[in-house]
Amino acid sequence: MSQYKAIILVGGPSRATRFRPLSLDVPKPLFPVAGAPIISHHLAALSKVNGLKEVLIIGFFEDHVFSRFIDEASNEFPHLHIRYLREYQSLGTAGGLYHFRDEILRGNPQQIFVMHVDIACNFPLNEMMEAHMKHRGLCTMLSTKVPREQATKYGCLVAKPDTHEVLHYVEKPETFISDLISCGVYLFDIAIFGEMKKAIDRKKDSQHEESDYLWTVSDDRLRLEQDLLRPLSEGRKLYVYVTEKFWRQIKTAGSAIPANAAYLEKQAQEHSDRLAQQKDDGPEIIGAVYIHPSAHVDPTAKIGPNVSIGPRVTIGKGVRIKNSIILDNVHIGNASCILHSVIGWNSKIGAWARVEGSPVADHNVAMMMNGVKSQSITILGKEVSVMDESIIRNCIVLPHKELKSSFHSEILM
Ligand code: GDD
Repeated sequence: MSQYKAIILVGGPSRATRFRPLSLDVPKPLFPVAGAPIISHHLAALSKVNGLKEVLIIGFFEDHVFSRFIDEASNEFPHLHIRYLREYQSLGTAGGLYHFRDEILRGNPQQIFVMHVDIACNFPLNEMMEAHMKHRGLCTMLSTKVPREQATKYGCLVAKPDTHEVLHYVEKPETFISDLISCGVYLFDIAIFGEMKKAIDRKKDSQHEESDYLWTVSDDRLRLEQDLLRPLSEGRKLYVYVTEKFWRQIKTAGSAIPANAAYLEKQAQEHSDRLAQQKDDGPEIIGAVYIHPSAHVDPTAKIGPNVSIGPRVTIGKGVRIKNSIILDNVHIGNASCILHSVIGWNSKIGAWARVEGSPVADHNVAMMMNGVKSQSITILGKEVSVMDESIIRNCIVLPHKELKSSFHSEILM
């Protein structure tokens, strides 16, 4: 018997609109940050939990979407049994858990990790397990502090400082209640399934009351946050583990850049041998940089910090790249400069070109320029070409565009 199981909630194709144009060509959970799909960072963390052997990926993408990834991940993490379970439609953040409860409970696990896929995190899972064993509540929720003005975008909570018991939980409140937020990582006791049943019954009762004669089809969407966590907080069964390590949401395409940086920096702190090392006959490497073994980087280029370079990329003489993701098979011509950008698959950047975003602290937050909301990053979709000597600054460029001049703060369709 293994004591733990894990669920990763991946949502479905309709939910990644804010991740466009990158989600036009790859489902968001499989988009690479720090040289590996977003979801594989979750698996790497789960693979270090003693007594955890099975990970269920739950979403409403078609079955084939994850099959190749699961084959590769099963080779990389051989002691994890990884499977995809498909919801027939969006069942909500707890609906899929309830729907697949028999699968989840098979093998008799005692505790279950549930993780949102759209986050980048240090995943302090062992610390959460320790905290859970001490308080013995039904759920330990990972939490972090965010700037006050951003808090209402998340699930907000108030906890007792000494016992870490959650006294109050509100999903995306209209006004500020706390700067402690839910990170989308939970450790549940299996008794949670009893609470889900109660939540479903409560929902049905209230639907009956609201519209006795209109109620024909049941709303299958069960929301972890409003339908489950909130009542748990009222019943004193919800606890919190607050992390000071990194955590970020990955919602917009631009938020891939800080997520990439955070994972690369983590790997640098762990002295990971995945990262590029400075060599006498190689390019100049600054800080944390990932270069796929099949990429070719000219020795006169200067790369880093926080750069990921994908398979089969070629980078010319004197190129400078900083804080960016260069996806598969991109070509970057001599003496070009790429800053705070994502360069889409198969794109071609000419010589002496400049593709850049702006160095702001938070690429999730839109920047104001001359009173106008503007992107703080540049994202080139798949197969975009940028002509020699042009400057592309703070632009979102849809796939297959040929840019023959310079552009500034535009969405190029
Ligand atoms: N399987 C499945 N089915 N997954 C889903 C569904 C569904 O119907 N709906 C959403 N998800 C997945 C998404 O893919 C994502 O990984 C996660 O559940 C949460 O997605 P959202 O519903 O978009 O919520 P949110 O990100 O705006 O807010 C949630 O996460 C925040 C932390 O990132 C809330 O839990 C907040 O309280 C929390 O602060």
